[in-house]
Amino acid sequence: ENAYLGIDIGGTNTKFGIVTRTGELLEKVKYPTADLADQPNGYVEAFIEKLGAFLGDNKAIKKVGIGVPGTLGPKRRKTLEFPNIVGLGNIEFAKRLEQAFPDYQFRLENDANAAALGEFYFGETAVPPSYIFITLGTGVGGAAVINKQIFGGEGGNAMEIGHIPIGNGKSLEQSIGKKGIVGMAEKYIGSGEYKTKLKLSDNLDAKKIQKACLAGDEVGKKVFRRVGKYLAQGIVSNVRILDISTIILGGGVSAAYETIHPAMMKELKHWLTPYYLDKLQIKTASLANEAGILGAASLVIED
Ligand code: BGC
Ligand code: NA
Repeated sequence: ENAYLGIDIGGTNTKFGIVTRTGELLEKVKYPTADLADQPNGYVEAFIEKLGAFLGDNKAIKKVGIGVPGTLGPKRRKTLEFPNIVGLGNIEFAKRLEQAFPDYQFRLENDANAAALGEFYFGETAVPPSYIFITLGTGVGGAAVINKQIFGGEGGNAMEIGHIPIGNGKSLEQSIGKKGIVGMAEKYIGSGEYKTKLKLSDNLDAKKIQKACLAGDEVGKKVFRRVGKYLAQGIVSNVRILDISTIILGGGVSAAYETIHPAMMKELKHWLTPYYLDKLQIKTASLANEAGILGAASLVIED
């Protein structure tokens, strides 16, 4: 059986995974993206080096799908704007990869688009022909699948929903991306109004705040209720514009979802009329953490 390489380039981790055509993940490795970006020759050279080492002993692989956290140029070959990775924007990435690895085929796609496709091919539950996929992580990404096709807009870069303003003076990503989550926690800790074990001196990250939330910490809960509210505002725009009723949430939401959910529903009920609300279905991605790798692999697994 052939194997495919799915690569998920994220603001936090760069993950490589060997995937079979039925979507089984055989092996995976991950590297902190910041470590690669910090290398003297920059992210792309460091990435090529890691990829070379990984491919070296995997002769069954011929095709590589890569989900990237930013926009892409014509034919999905050149990287354009990458808000969360230093050194990956504005690069002839496909060409560089083909030059370094002439025996392989590469396909690049926006990470959220790739994850949306992964859910379609490999998800545990059947997805409808049209749905909106939202990824929450370092960045906030989006995809709209309309009648089984990714909606690309004019240049293939539609649904950059992380960068829409949501009415608090910030974008959705600035509000509920990892940095936004830390910023909110710092603000609530600093206010002194909440009982919390989190400290400003803790070197806070979104994971710690999520853990605190799960443990019932007041700041942790307050933060993820806010995440629910802001996420709902993003969902409202999408649903009102596209009239699509299934929303799939991927990335780091699942753990705190019990806190996010009620706050999100409250805000959705405030902004949506019964026409939209009655048919609205929001669920978390069944592929959870592997959605990025599997989605990337699905780019190159042909029927
Ligand atoms: C980028 C998107 C990406 C998202 C999630 C955003 O900052 O603009 O292209 O899908 O982060 O990685
Ligand atoms: Na997208």
